[in-house]
Amino acid sequence: MDKLLIEGGAVLRGEVAISGAKNAALPILCAALLSAEPLELSNVPELNDIATMLRLLEEMGVKIQRDGHRVTLDASQISNPVASYERVKTMRASILVLGPLVARCGEARVSLPGGCAIGARPVDQHIKGLQAMGAEVTVEQGYVHAKANRLKGARICTDMVTVTGTENLMLAACLAAGETIIENAAREPEIVDLANCLVAMGARISGAGTDTIRIQGVERLHGAQHRVMPDRIETGTYLCAAAVTGGTVRLTDTSVAYLDAVVDKLLDAGCEITMERDAIRLQAPARLKAVSLRTAPYPAFPTDMQAQFMAMNCVADGVATIRETIFENRFMHVNELLRLGANIQIEGNNAVVRGVERLQGATVMATDLRASASLIVAGLVAQGETLIDRIYHLDRGYEKIEDKLHALGARVRRVR
Ligand code: UD1
Repeated sequence: MDKLLIEGGAVLRGEVAISGAKNAALPILCAALLSAEPLELSNVPELNDIATMLRLLEEMGVKIQRDGHRVTLDASQISNPVASYERVKTMRASILVLGPLVARCGEARVSLPGGCAIGARPVDQHIKGLQAMGAEVTVEQGYVHAKANRLKGARICTDMVTVTGTENLMLAACLAAGETIIENAAREPEIVDLANCLVAMGARISGAGTDTIRIQGVERLHGAQHRVMPDRIETGTYLCAAAVTGGTVRLTDTSVAYLDAVVDKLLDAGCEITMERDAIRLQAPARLKAVSLRTAPYPAFPTDMQAQFMAMNCVADGVATIRETIFENRFMHVNELLRLGANIQIEGNNAVVRGVERLQGATVMATDLRASASLIVAGLVAQGETLIDRIYHLDRGYEKIEDKLHALGARVRRVR
């Protein structure tokens, strides 16, 4: 299993390009299932999660051509509308095939994702929404089995704000008969990107990016071309990595448009930030100030940036309180940060981080994708060597991470 060895202390300086957004690309790949004509995508990141999704779609009969960041999907024939446990257990986002498959094929069998490291993460809202659209849904032997002759438009109000839940229902509603209204919809930029792709395919969607999305179902969707939006979480992660080392970086091919909550906190921490049209520049102070935060659905502070900010706070000046409100078990990086000498106390879903003068390198274990990113942030500033075990989590969501960190002057090496 690959490990990442970081020799801390290098100040990050330079420029790197940000990749396409994993969390936008995954639902957009599933949009291909809705049409018999090819969907041509660009800026698709080369990540393990994307490879998993492509394999899953191929198993269903979708023909895929891939050339670097360009992917063309031809779903003219869907022979097997099934997502097996083997695929779904490695990536929860596989559940995103459920909506489009029922809408296009009238039937789908998708394994239930089950538990995951950061919490229970049920899919009851996905199911409830499809039932409201007239699907007959049963759960048997760990699989969700959904059937419908043609889905019917419905008014759906989700019990909580769910990102993939909103996406699944939006995908399904595109081919339903009549109008679907999704209330309490997630407002994440990735949902807007998915809606833009669907509209390019002929879908009739309004309100994406607000909490009420209206979809007028159409008989069929056609082929289209779409460029996946930049990854705001990757952008935020490199900003934190640079900030913690007191560095200066320019991130290109990205947009600060969706990063307000993160940028505000970096400003509070004492960083200077300059926005350009498709780039962002950060200059960090010698020592960061502690910043408290609370995660919540977009446009509030993203849960996917919580761990990286926790790592920054470990060496900041002052005390920060971090409140996680989305997932019940998203503090697994804390025990690893403690191994590096951090001072963190957890009470329920609050963590109190008291900044220390320095962290010391140690062997630590990555427990999930963003936890891994936080260990990199901490390892970059820790004295001596930090060895991060189980970095397959990182490869799920960060494209060419060592190359990008090298380009910024970090001393990082993959150990096989
Ligand atoms: C997506 C993101 C993930 C991010 C998360 C929150 C993708 C592929 N993943 O995950 O990176 O951390 O949003 O921003 O885009 N819930 C239910 N029932 C449901 C659905 C959700 O109880 O049917 C709960 C979850 O357990 C969680 C909360 O709702 O507590 C939000 O989860 P959700 O927004 O659905 O997260 P994901 O879409 O899985």
